[in-house]
Amino acid sequence: MASIAIDGPAGAGKSTIAKLVAKKLDYIYVDTGAMYRAIAYELVRKNVDIEDEKALSDACSKMKIAIKYENGIQQVYMNGENVTPYLRNEETGDMASKSSAKAPVRAALLDIQRNMAVEYNVVMDGRDIGTNVLPNAETKIYLTASADERANRRYKELIEKGESADFDKIKADIIERDERDMNRDIAPLKQADDAVLIDSSNMSIEEVVSAILDNVK
Ligand code: DC
Repeated sequence: MASIAIDGPAGAGKSTIAKLVAKKLDYIYVDTGAMYRAIAYELVRKNVDIEDEKALSDACSKMKIAIKYENGIQQVYMNGENVTPYLRNEETGDMASKSSAKAPVRAALLDIQRNMAVEYNVVMDGRDIGTNVLPNAETKIYLTASADERANRRYKELIEKGESADFDKIKADIIERDERDMNRDIAPLKQADDAVLIDSSNMSIEEVVSAILDNVK
């Protein structure tokens, strides 16, 4: 099976791009961030103190996570419940960034992610795919953009949805999340030595997709 690993900071456009690349190649798109978000959602729901090691590992050991594809779109099930609709919000993303630094949380997902790449041709996006989850992926991409550009995209997205948005706060949150994801002890976000760097700050979605396709081995 073939694997394309796409890593990079929050808001770099990984999921939009990864979905399009997967569609072009008829691969499966695996969104690992959604898996970390599902755990975060459950930790918030169960009111677990993530700084309490025993409470956290007990909570993780009770989580049964399953990934399914419905009409080609990834769904994350937590203990039999499809939690996918509840994962894409700032609170869950923020908790995912914090809880994903913890060993029991990462251990709960590693085999699930590796097994998907054994079973299917995948485009997998996240923070540690090229460095840790799939070190032998045929194609590795590190997709980034300036913090200003990433904040700007997020700002526009919220305004288009009719929601209120504060550019400075969005930018500060993005920088804080990057710092946490890059500086944790276990599997921090970093460019794999053999990954191709793409800075999408001044690129269209189509340009990024074709740059990635040019690198597929
Ligand atoms: O990509 P995302 O915003 O959905 O990810 C949410 C958080 O999950 C991110 O801040 C860090 C964590 N994460 C991770 O640690 N490793 C991954 N492979 C994917 C996400």
